[in-house]
Amino acid sequence: MPRRTQFRDVSEITEHEAQAELIHLANVLKAANIAYFENDAPEITDADYDELRRYNKSLEDKFPHLKRMDSPSNSVGSSPTNGFIKIHHTIPMLSLENASDIIDVWKFEASIKKYLGLCPDTRLYYTAEPKIDGVSLSLRYEKGQLVHAATRGDGRVGENVAANARCIADIPQYLTESPDTLEVRGEIYMSRSDFTALNSRQLQLGQRTFANPRNAAAGSLRQLNPEITRTRPLHFFAYAWGEVSEPLGTTQYACIQRLKTLRFQTNPLIHLCQSVDDLLAHYEKIEMQRATLDYDIDGVVYKINDLALQERLGSRSTTPRWAIAHKFSAEMAWTYLQDIDIQVGRTGALSPVARLAPVTVGGVVVSNATLHNEDYIAGYDSNKKPIRAGKDIRIGDWVQVYRAGDVIPKIADVDVVRRTSQSKVFKFPKQCPECGSNAIREENDSVRRCVAGLTCPAQAVEKLKHFVSKAAFDIVGLGDKQIEMFYRDEHLPIHEPADIFSLSSRDKKNATGLADRDGWGQKSAKNLFSAIDSARVISLNRLIFSLGIRNIGEVAAMDLARHFGNWDNFVRTIDQAANEPAAGINNQRERRKVISDSPAWSEITNIDGIGDTVATALINSFTQDAERMSIERLLANLSVEDVTAPNSYNSAFANKTLVFTGTLGRMTRAEAKARAESHGAKVSGSVSTRTDLVIAGPGAGSKIRKAKELGIQIMSEDEWCVLLENS
Ligand code: IVH
Repeated sequence: MPRRTQFRDVSEITEHEAQAELIHLANVLKAANIAYFENDAPEITDADYDELRRYNKSLEDKFPHLKRMDSPSNSVGSSPTNGFIKIHHTIPMLSLENASDIIDVWKFEASIKKYLGLCPDTRLYYTAEPKIDGVSLSLRYEKGQLVHAATRGDGRVGENVAANARCIADIPQYLTESPDTLEVRGEIYMSRSDFTALNSRQLQLGQRTFANPRNAAAGSLRQLNPEITRTRPLHFFAYAWGEVSEPLGTTQYACIQRLKTLRFQTNPLIHLCQSVDDLLAHYEKIEMQRATLDYDIDGVVYKINDLALQERLGSRSTTPRWAIAHKFSAEMAWTYLQDIDIQVGRTGALSPVARLAPVTVGGVVVSNATLHNEDYIAGYDSNKKPIRAGKDIRIGDWVQVYRAGDVIPKIADVDVVRRTSQSKVFKFPKQCPECGSNAIREENDSVRRCVAGLTCPAQAVEKLKHFVSKAAFDIVGLGDKQIEMFYRDEHLPIHEPADIFSLSSRDKKNATGLADRDGWGQKSAKNLFSAIDSARVISLNRLIFSLGIRNIGEVAAMDLARHFGNWDNFVRTIDQAANEPAAGINNQRERRKVISDSPAWSEITNIDGIGDTVATALINSFTQDAERMSIERLLANLSVEDVTAPNSYNSAFANKTLVFTGTLGRMTRAEAKARAESHGAKVSGSVSTRTDLVIAGPGAGSKIRKAKELGIQIMSEDEWCVLLENS
């Protein structure tokens, strides 16, 4: 089903449009619920899910009569799945309203006072406790015996997973001195360390791994075979109750203490607060401790302490009026910087990577972040201007990690107040950590690079990984793992791209063939050799991109291919720019000056979208002996398809820059890009002032926000396809 998300201003939407939107949102959110609750494999981020729900709610608020029977606002989860016996919750299992900022928390208190008719200065007491990021469960005890354990399901009907619950040590099977009927509610979770261990075990067994501890907990709890649950280390925190035959206490806090006495695990960070300021102070304290806890939390829950007031406040359809979840940002979290590693990329760039104490941000476990380069670590940008108010980043610091959408996590800030004498200033290496060669910084370059080129194993391997990647030669069966393996293989090595194309013939000469090796077999070896054979025919643009030359991405490669049309023209012009005018001149600066006066240089730099940087990178690559020979050896194996410039004269997209974001329903990204380019458009990966149009599918986030800020036109995939067909 083609999926579509529009981020339109609700005030501009007509009733007719709203009706269509609400149908679409009900479907998209239902699919997201099934992926999340039933399959334990979310398809969109929590932040995007919340955004879609908010959009749905604002449409319903504007057109209340259009609210659908299956409105996503009426449900808190998904309907129970088959396989477990259904349990009807005598008291519904509610969800919580979210507060995304301090203002929402103040509004929460104001609305309670208004509802109860209290003076604005009345003091209210609350409990504040971590919001555990797991799966809720309701345990029913009758006469002290555990009789069932029900998942939340849709809030009214859940599934009985008692056989599995009985395998969890934190869940008592019988209680002494408890009310005759008692439903204890709380959260099943998996600790972060157990989650990491489980995932590596699953990997070894060749079984599915989980995206985060919450999905692992959900998947483990809903096993049809309790023996599997027994092997999964699950825990339970009790924080609420359902039906009780006699009260557990008169306050929230006292009831939690009672649950503790009854042998349930309760969270030690629960705190009694006397004001909103108190709540916010506790929120900050918990947020700061988040990375030190061995379980995931995604906010702090505030609950009115007095149960009589809770009773008076009651509930809305799915959430109580007396509680709220103050969520942590879905994009930021504080954590501890354990170490800094240096990775060497295909162009020799030394990239520092922060190794962090793992923290789950927006449903993704983050344990690494980019630190860009040495200036960035030292606290300034490429123009030598201070960033983070000039604070440097040291090993042992508390850092705020930032992650949005698919963007690589970054460090947003450092808490220098928490810095101790143990923290260590990082000395950026002047030698390549992989091959020991000098790593130098060119003038005006913030990146330090290993000078060894292809003789540096790290660069060679990264170049090969790039070469076989999807947008390059796209050789199925030859991914990062296999490249690492073949690079180090004694009998069948791949040290440069040309070696890939001789793999099959070399394999035939070996005593033990690839097909007979562990982890391979006849079929996978045959498939690999035929994937390699199919890659012998390649388009000029893909070939240029695959060479992995610095600053030449897919867009620049296409610009070059369209201009030169065929490989011979392309290479001849680079050679002319590099050799003819500069022959015999060894001084680099002098060479560059002479080259930049040549007609061939002007031809390259006059191509729309290509500048001095790309031209220099091309010349550098083609004049380095080792690299040039490697390219020549590769070309001997290939048939390169010419590229003709598209006839985009009449297209609405000619010379327009497009950005695709979110999930496309009708075609792959690669196909969308190719279609856009065949209409003369350029496709970029990021939104900037130069973007003309953003095409958004479900799951789009930060790029949409940026496009809105810049006033750039946004359309759905369907709308774009209609325009494409008509242009
Ligand atoms: S109280 C009537 N307390 O968050 C209120 N819920 O997004 C019942 N959760 O459905 C919930 N930690 O699964 C409460 N300390 C906590 C919680 C908590 C996690 C979950 C629970 C709930 C969901 C709402």
